[in-house]
Amino acid sequence: MTEQSKEQKSQNKVQKINGIRGMNDLLPADAYQWAHLEHVLRDLTRAYGYEFLRTPIVEATAVFQRGIGEVTDIVEKEMYSFEDRLNGEQLTLRPEGTAALVRSVIENNLLYEGPKRLWYTGPMFRHERPQRGRYRQFHQFGIEALGFAGPDIDAEIILMGQRLWDELGLKGVRLEINSLGQAHERAEHRAALVAYFENHQAQLDEDSQRRLLTNPLRILDSKNPQMQALIEGAPKLLDFLGEESLGHFNAVMNLLKANNIPCKINPRLVRGLDYYNLTVFEWVTDELGAQGTIAGGGRYDPLIERMGGKAAPACGWAMGMERVLELMKVSGSLPQAQALCDVFVLHQGGETLTAATIIAERLRSAGLDTILFCPPDGQSASFKSQMKKADASGAAFAVIIGPDELAKNEAGLKDLRDTGEQKSIPVDGVVEAVIDAMVGATE
Ligand code: HAM
Repeated sequence: MTEQSKEQKSQNKVQKINGIRGMNDLLPADAYQWAHLEHVLRDLTRAYGYEFLRTPIVEATAVFQRGIGEVTDIVEKEMYSFEDRLNGEQLTLRPEGTAALVRSVIENNLLYEGPKRLWYTGPMFRHERPQRGRYRQFHQFGIEALGFAGPDIDAEIILMGQRLWDELGLKGVRLEINSLGQAHERAEHRAALVAYFENHQAQLDEDSQRRLLTNPLRILDSKNPQMQALIEGAPKLLDFLGEESLGHFNAVMNLLKANNIPCKINPRLVRGLDYYNLTVFEWVTDELGAQGTIAGGGRYDPLIERMGGKAAPACGWAMGMERVLELMKVSGSLPQAQALCDVFVLHQGGETLTAATIIAERLRSAGLDTILFCPPDGQSASFKSQMKKADASGAAFAVIIGPDELAKNEAGLKDLRDTGEQKSIPVDGVVEAVIDAMVGATE
């Protein structure tokens, strides 16, 4: 081919379309890890009596503006919002599950008969700068207990988290906990904080000077090493809690202690969503670099009323499934990939194909996962190349139907994990022969 025609050909090539940055495909090679995680999550929710609830991926933007709070990073900067082209409605791809779940609970009157324990899972969307552990489409698993006011349920949801990390074999996870008290206690603390930083204004860096006017609590998040001593000495919210809030916090802490759940009080833990009060917590690890928070949550008693429902207390948490899987990898606790099937059926086309499809269906009816070889060119392939595919599939057995075997009404059976000879079996007895061989192989 001449240089010119090569160039012509590459110009004519159809451009491929790539996926969106920060939004990932789940490829077959990783699918078993997700299936395993989802399986463990289902068992966990059953063990504690939580029921599944699924909300749509798209909600009215107001759900999140009102739920998460207008002055939060998520609502101000990170939401995928758009106008419905047909009716002009303002819509948003959900950035989290709690506000949407509360919308559904109110709309469907789910608290009518009393409190509810619920769980959900699915994709969430935030327009953040993608990096390891931070994506624009990511997946959460979350639990929400609605209608319970006592510290017992705060402890229950934390115990569920600890059980989950143990079950998944995660290493190096720490629980950090704090209490945000009630709105009036936060207001008193805020006033004391502003007074404190005003008294030390000369020591504030430029960023913190600005925050002093806009959001003084955010000064506590400053990473500037020169500010750390000043921040250490700042008034702590826990010191502003009244008897009731403190009583709730201590009761949660006592239940955790009685159940041997280690945790650290982190007075700076405030969470990035506006709906919280009283208990807030995060599970963090040093093993994942900058995105070390694998899960977080807390109590959000004001939210149901704020969303238009009858006031009811609630609490819950959500975890990032990508981060948890990454930590399982680091902890060496990912399960082994499973074989694709139990039996691989080989044939030579024509009548042997007809017989092979019937045998494969019979095997599936007997509960055996079966892959029937299909030649890529739609014609046929040598037994040698089919056998390579059978081996790669991880199948335990191959059933081979060639014209010679079929003429004698027979099929071949080969144990793929054994060097032994291929056996001849009657076509009508394939299912029994495979089951016998499987039982024999495990004895
Ligand atoms: P959140 O802290 O915003 O809380 O998110 C929960 C978890 O989702 C995080 O700890 C993190 O593991 C994961 N996550 C968040 N953003 C990303 C991202 N861009 N990429 C990957 N993973 C991410 C909530 O969403 C609350 N709804 C939790 C809650 C439930 N509070 C009460 N109930």
